[in-house]
Amino acid sequence: MDTRRALLDALTDGPVSGPELAAELGVSRAAVWKAVETLRDEGFAVESTGDGYAPPTEPPYGAAGIEFGLNAPYTVEYHEALGSTNDRARELAASGESSVAVVADEQTGGRGRLEREWTAPSGGVWVSVLTSPAIPTSHAPVCTLAASVATTDACREAGVDAGIKWPNDVLVGREARDAGRGDGEPRTNERGGQKLAGILTEMEGEADRVSWLVVGVGINANVDVGVLPDGATSLSAVRGEPVDRRRLLQRLLERYHELTAMPDRILPAWRERAETLGASVRVDTPDGEVCGTAVDIEFPGQLVVDTGDECVRVHAGDCEHLRPATE
Ligand code: BTN
Repeated sequence: MDTRRALLDALTDGPVSGPELAAELGVSRAAVWKAVETLRDEGFAVESTGDGYAPPTEPPYGAAGIEFGLNAPYTVEYHEALGSTNDRARELAASGESSVAVVADEQTGGRGRLEREWTAPSGGVWVSVLTSPAIPTSHAPVCTLAASVATTDACREAGVDAGIKWPNDVLVGREARDAGRGDGEPRTNERGGQKLAGILTEMEGEADRVSWLVVGVGINANVDVGVLPDGATSLSAVRGEPVDRRRLLQRLLERYHELTAMPDRILPAWRERAETLGASVRVDTPDGEVCGTAVDIEFPGQLVVDTGDECVRVHAGDCEHLRPATE
């Protein structure tokens, strides 16, 4: 582990003196000082107190702030502005890097599923996690499901009652539909839920092994609803106050790591959070439209739709909820 990250980890429990840090990290005091300066240059204002070096009381939303106290093995690369975090993560993959979370405050060329644009102004959580999981490429969709569970849990911990629409949209229910808009006009999508977050997964590999996997997650965190497309909302609009983006992203990364380390837990967790199961759906697939009741999800991520005549397994497509499970 590099000295900078080891220092961040050592500061998690409070102030530590320079000599203690040098002994704990197994480096010289000069190396500790240099790492402290590096963190300060990144905006992570390490304080020099009578008890030693102390972390800032409000760590910033930046590489060091996100890594500080993070219980997941990712290095964070932070940018104020970037075209697309997925594009940057792909560049890192091409140069052989892995276990990196690329984060931007703003994206100028954010990409969504199905070649759509993704609106990503300053204030959102725009992140792409680059890993090299030891799985066959055919199993990769389960990592996208893990990301949708992780995103849902992070939003729920921020106090917003989020749920998942197959395959990986994170929505908030109809009770919050006009929040933050103020003109009384409903901005619901097709089933009354509004989109809080979306996921775009890209990968490369041979049939038997993924070489790299980029899971790009976009959460409309502290974003003005007026700039978002119809059918979308933000956490700040639903909550009525801004969310702590650093904490939100840390929870997302921690849950994603936990789940991908225990793949058996992903489908049960997805089922528990799914709005789609039990709903009447219309799925636009590359092979045509499938209509019926969504009855289950199967590994690694296909939706099982009961059309009345048969159960059809849908691997990819755009899903519309016609009638929710509870109506
Ligand atoms: C969708 O619902 O269409 C998926 C949206 C994915 C957006 C995220 S934001 C971070 C990452 N970088 C991108 O360009 N896209 C993904």
